[in-house]
Amino acid sequence: MKHLLALDQGTSSSRSIVFDENGRIVAMAQREFRQIYPQPGWVEHDPRELWETQLATAKEALAKAGLTARDIASVGITNQRETTVVWNRRTGEPIHNAIVWQDRRAEPTCAAFREQGLEPLFRERTGLIVDAYFSGTKLKWILDHVAGSREAAARGELAFGTVDSWLMWHLTGGKLHATDVSNASRTLMLNVHDNTWDDELLEVLDVPREMLPQVFPSSHVYGHTEAHLFGESLPIGGVAGDQQSALFGQACFRAGLAKNTYGTGCFMLMHTGGNFQQSANGLITTSAAQPTATPEFAFEGSVFIGGAVVQWLRDGLQAIKGSGEVQRLAESVPDSGGVMFVPAFTGMGAPYWKADARGAIVGLTRGSTVAHIARAALESIAFQSAALLTAMSRDAVAAGGSPVSELRVDGGACVNDLLMQFQADLLGIPVVRPKVIETTALGAAYLAGLSSGVWHNLDELAAQWQVERRFHPVMARSRAEELMAGWEHAVRQATLE
Ligand code: G3P
Repeated sequence: MKHLLALDQGTSSSRSIVFDENGRIVAMAQREFRQIYPQPGWVEHDPRELWETQLATAKEALAKAGLTARDIASVGITNQRETTVVWNRRTGEPIHNAIVWQDRRAEPTCAAFREQGLEPLFRERTGLIVDAYFSGTKLKWILDHVAGSREAAARGELAFGTVDSWLMWHLTGGKLHATDVSNASRTLMLNVHDNTWDDELLEVLDVPREMLPQVFPSSHVYGHTEAHLFGESLPIGGVAGDQQSALFGQACFRAGLAKNTYGTGCFMLMHTGGNFQQSANGLITTSAAQPTATPEFAFEGSVFIGGAVVQWLRDGLQAIKGSGEVQRLAESVPDSGGVMFVPAFTGMGAPYWKADARGAIVGLTRGSTVAHIARAALESIAFQSAALLTAMSRDAVAAGGSPVSELRVDGGACVNDLLMQFQADLLGIPVVRPKVIETTALGAAYLAGLSSGVWHNLDELAAQWQVERRFHPVMARSRAEELMAGWEHAVRQATLE
């Protein structure tokens, strides 16, 4: 039997998973690395640590699976997106730490661009809003602050890449400088209509074209790993940013199919097919993982504080000792007793976009207990996700499509049955949990398997993807609407200026 090796380079850890040709997990390895906070609002990673931990987990996963390189048909890569690396092409040494997607240092540049009225240009070409989240202004910051770097870049001596490019460079011993469309679409530099770097945007950002990677479809034989790494050279056959990879791993291949990943934050994406659409409800448009050269798109929205609210219950409020306790505490009461928890610790993202909002717990009475607060905290994850899905459905209908008919779920917190049932109740549509919830890595394996002939088409993958449990809504719609109205009211209270 042939296997696929998926490398999943995430924000807090590097992981590698070996899948068999039925899409089942055979072995997995994981390593954490340092989070570097040079000053408030700044987040960095050491690119060398990303590479070293990634390589170590790949070797470990293969060993745990009892396999050698000969058993692997192809390698797939998926990664934290937007995180920006610049390195010297000759030495392979980074010229600065990686600036992580969470890092806010480029905000003044973004504010200046917005003031100059440049937002519509970026929106039209890239589908994104002008925000420090994306790579373009992080790259500009590096070129502005590392002496001589812009000139060296223009001479072709430096390479820019998101983490996928950085890993591919090292996997191939510096022979390959490439990226895939889904990662490139997060840089504020890609024209997503034709998947080329956009000269006008490069000029605005003052980024020399010479430093940019070549862009390929997400399923493609990019190159081959150095033989000494795994004992034999392996093809790199699939690459996608982690959220688009999860959309692919959930077999959301066509317009209207949506997934939500319940992690520290939540990332919701809905495939919108081949048409570039702009949201009227505060979502961004992004390139989906593209198995062929034909552009495909998705709407995306994120919840900044998802599972992180449980960490706050543990570390901030000290209401629980371990995260696992939250379900038991929440289940000890029949409902939140009218308590609403708006965890706007870092402002609120789509569809609200209130950067200055701060957290609020409202609706407290003499009868409220810590159990009600725990339940409200858990429910806040579902409320925020429901607001996002409603926005997506509105945009889909406005574009002549249908509202979303089911939500596929993955990520750590999707194992929480109480949360999933409440999510289905709020949405009024089924919430579908697949057998393999490691869908980010599975997506990369699918993309790599398609280009190496392990799988032949999307239908084959869609048939293989299996449901573990379907949560059907049982709450009366009138009650769900009342709850959503209560949530919106609480959000207004949290966002009052
Ligand atoms: O856009 C950021 C996202 O790709 C990060 O994902 O799973 O590494 O936190 P994760």
